[in-house]
Amino acid sequence: MGVCWSAQIKINSQFHTGEDSKYVSRDTHDISNSYSKGSSTSVPATPRSEGEILQSPNLKSFTFSELRNSTRNFRPDSVLGEGGFGSVFKGWIDEQSLAASKPGTGIVIAVKRLNQEGLQGHKEWLAEINYLGQLSHPNLVKLIGYCLEDDHRLLVYEFMPKGSMENHLFRRGSHFQPLSWGVRMKVALGAARGLAFLHGVDNQVIYRDFKTSNILLDSKFNAKLSDFGLARDGPTGDKSHVSTRVMGTYGYAAPEYLSTGHLTTKSDVYSFGVVLLEILSGKKAIDKNRPNGEHNLVDWAKPCLNSKRRIFRVLDGRLEGQYSLGRALQAANIALECLNMDSKLRPSMDEVVTALEKIQNPKDKARNDQKDVQSKGHGHSNGLKR
Ligand SMILES: Nc1ncnc2c1ncn2[C@@H]1O[C@H](COP(=O)(O)OP(=O)(O)OP(=O)(O)O)[C@@H](O)[C@H]1O
Ligand SMILES: [Mg+2]
Repeated sequence: MGVCWSAQIKINSQFHTGEDSKYVSRDTHDISNSYSKGSSTSVPATPRSEGEILQSPNLKSFTFSELRNSTRNFRPDSVLGEGGFGSVFKGWIDEQSLAASKPGTGIVIAVKRLNQEGLQGHKEWLAEINYLGQLSHPNLVKLIGYCLEDDHRLLVYEFMPKGSMENHLFRRGSHFQPLSWGVRMKVALGAARGLAFLHGVDNQVIYRDFKTSNILLDSKFNAKLSDFGLARDGPTGDKSHVSTRVMGTYGYAAPEYLSTGHLTTKSDVYSFGVVLLEILSGKKAIDKNRPNGEHNLVDWAKPCLNSKRRIFRVLDGRLEGQYSLGRALQAANIALECLNMDSKLRPSMDEVVTALEKIQNPKDKARNDQKDVQSKGHGHSNGLKR
């Protein structure tokens, strides 16, 4: 479960258009204020049946009893975490048949079970299936299947042994040792590649909820994005943006998106800047427990990011001695550029990837390059299955 750092808020938008379902999670909110415009979406407005799930030949439709068996009846001790949608359980399935297998045998899966209260998360559940069922990339979490039976809605993912980046950055305890500089840069690069892929596919996708709890880590700290519930198709034709009700998470949403509802890929780039700052500083985007003037990480840190002297105030003290000043300034500069108030002046995610590649530790870089060659060889360069 992630660290709870913002109050649960329920806002019933008076401008509800039916475009997005009313869903408010622990820290993912409808953060709209006074406007909303309907726009085309790839997710039907009132989806309730399996017919609304796009053709995804690679996804398995599980029965509820299969998933109950694979998680040992959703045993509390198999809970991996909890989010606004519900709990995530550890389970086991047979690698070939994908049928439930005895705990400890076959492959490990993560089963997200939606809270059943009013089916509030149904649209997000469907968006997750329709996006992750179509997209495939080494930096996106793999969706194995889903279950839709009566009021039960579940999602079945590959298991990510190291959990979320949020836990590693902000949780304390023997289980969570501070991440090294090298690992932090590797995670930042992996997550950036995931976003760059989404922004680059034929039908551009805007992720809209980029934050550390949605970056999951495999056993080697390869980053994979999860949670496409709020994702939206990007603008088409000569349109510059998509108009939406403002959804997302406080502290991560771009200022122009908050004030106009205009969504572009550059909104994701801003959120990436916030996350990169969290990675560099080990501090949460918003934390009311910090001294006055420091609650908002971006506002507090921005003036220090291009200063050789003040940068040390921002960098996580637990990283001391692991980086050169030059690399730290380069990384801080990428964050600064992503956080530009003028969205047009922010870099593209492709440019961010290139900049981050330059500051990888040479050993990690060689390994990543090797992986790139392999993934391209397996047809991941486009990755769109539809
Ligand atoms: N595929 C997975 N493998 C391993 N652990 C996972 C997996 N998916 C989720 N988890 C764990 O479950 C937790 C809850 O995930 P979930 O996506 O439901 O909520 P969240 O991202 O923390 O919050 P929010 O609802 O605001 O998105 C994660 O933080 C992570 O620790
Ligand atoms: Mg999540």
